[in-house]
Amino acid sequence: MEFSIKAQSPEKVRTACVVVGVSEGRRLSPSAKVLDAAAGNHLSRLLKQGDLPAKVGKTLLLHGVPGLPAERVLLVSTGTEKTLNDRDFRTLVRAAVQSLDGTGVKDALFCLVEIPVAGRDVEWKLEQLVLTARETGYRITRVADQQDPPCTLAQISIPTPEKTKPAALATLISRSQAIANGMALTRDLGNLPPNLCTPSYLAESARTLGKQWKLKIEVLEQAHMEKLGMGALLAVAAGSRQPPKLIVMHYAGAAKSQKPVVLVGKGITFDTGGISLKPAPEMDEMKFDMCGAASVFGTMRAVAEMKLPINLIAVIPTCENMPDGNATRPGDIVRSMSGQTIEILNTDAEGRLILCDALTYAEKFEPDTIIDVATLTGACVIALGHEAAGLFANDDKLSEKLRAAGDYTGDRAWPLPLWEEYQEGLKSNFADVANVAGRPGGTITAASFLARFTRKMRWAHLDIAGVAYKGGREKGATGRPVKLFCRYLIQRSGH
Ligand code: BES
Ligand code: MN
Ligand code: ZN
Repeated sequence: MEFSIKAQSPEKVRTACVVVGVSEGRRLSPSAKVLDAAAGNHLSRLLKQGDLPAKVGKTLLLHGVPGLPAERVLLVSTGTEKTLNDRDFRTLVRAAVQSLDGTGVKDALFCLVEIPVAGRDVEWKLEQLVLTARETGYRITRVADQQDPPCTLAQISIPTPEKTKPAALATLISRSQAIANGMALTRDLGNLPPNLCTPSYLAESARTLGKQWKLKIEVLEQAHMEKLGMGALLAVAAGSRQPPKLIVMHYAGAAKSQKPVVLVGKGITFDTGGISLKPAPEMDEMKFDMCGAASVFGTMRAVAEMKLPINLIAVIPTCENMPDGNATRPGDIVRSMSGQTIEILNTDAEGRLILCDALTYAEKFEPDTIIDVATLTGACVIALGHEAAGLFANDDKLSEKLRAAGDYTGDRAWPLPLWEEYQEGLKSNFADVANVAGRPGGTITAASFLARFTRKMRWAHLDIAGVAYKGGREKGATGRPVKLFCRYLIQRSGH
């Protein structure tokens, strides 16, 4: 899907479809008014018949409107309010793309940036338009001979918004495209079946990404991890026939002297729970347990395509959590790379085990900021549902920046506390720390476990268990939190 800016007025544009907004009481948006006038009030006459309900996202497709070079006009309802909220604006864009997808419309003029959204400027609307349209046009790659037909809407043009510079708009579009490409990669990786998307596959994908985007790639093998003393990560990998990998990707967009941001993504390619086996229902969804890693892949790709002037390093611990004769037992004690010994009381709390060693390893990059991202706990889904990722940090400013980045993009994260008191539940009679506390505050105690390994760094943790994928009919990876990360990194880079 391509996007471009059109200087022409909408009633003059030769296109398969012009998309305009209409609000309750048949109030036409500025572009709709212009079309209506050129069409001898054809639109307002039709609307009087009541065919377009005043509900955000309802659409009405008109053919052969007189007086217009456009072949069709798509009316999209903007509901009853004068100004929309963020969500309504996205609904509008999604509805427009969905209603044109599968029709003969290959190119369309979207006159939607003119619609007022409370507290948001043209730049925000343009970016959201591109991202939402791309998200709507995304197709899952099927593991089958027959693929779903791609989105037929291939070209979207946008009338030049008032008071904007064309060069800035072009930059904004290509940047949004880069983010959308990153999200698509994240979704593609997340959606793959776990027999194909193994740790080795992720390592290969990193090498491919490295070649395409000039990233330096390192893949640490099991023997290397043993030498480094990554007892926690290796304890998770022990029950699987798939060898574990520790993938490192380097993007250098700034001077060497500039300390990097390090992103650490949980890459469990399948989580059976191990010996603490999970129940059968929905276990297939545990193929999404590598979505943290996938979001780091997507962010890396987006940042490289945007050429952000920052240094960014990805660290991805990846393995499978399987039960077999060599699997870790509940009660086993291992030594993590940090030196802390861990009593593994529940082998299903494996994410924190691979992450703690990856976080310790990442210290060597002397990060300015380190952020890990993981489908870490079911408890986070109970706490925040599918709206927001759980957000933890040992630095309030960092927490606020990530929260704000999530709010701006609609890829939200919400802060939860990391008080020392939560460490209490992680005490072990036999080792320095246990890998689980009780059920209360499960997302917080998981984050508190990780906090023990990041004391020397400015660190944040995103628990994306509730937001990284959808279950049920719409089952699939969402591409979150790539938008949040990109916004945070763009803001950081001052661009
Ligand atoms: N990958 C799961 C967390 C998860 C659960 C993600 C549901 C998405 C949806 C994680 O490894 C896990 O199993 N966590 C346990 C921790 C518990 C044993 C303390 C959980 O949440 O039940
Ligand atoms: Mn688990
Ligand atoms: Zn897991």
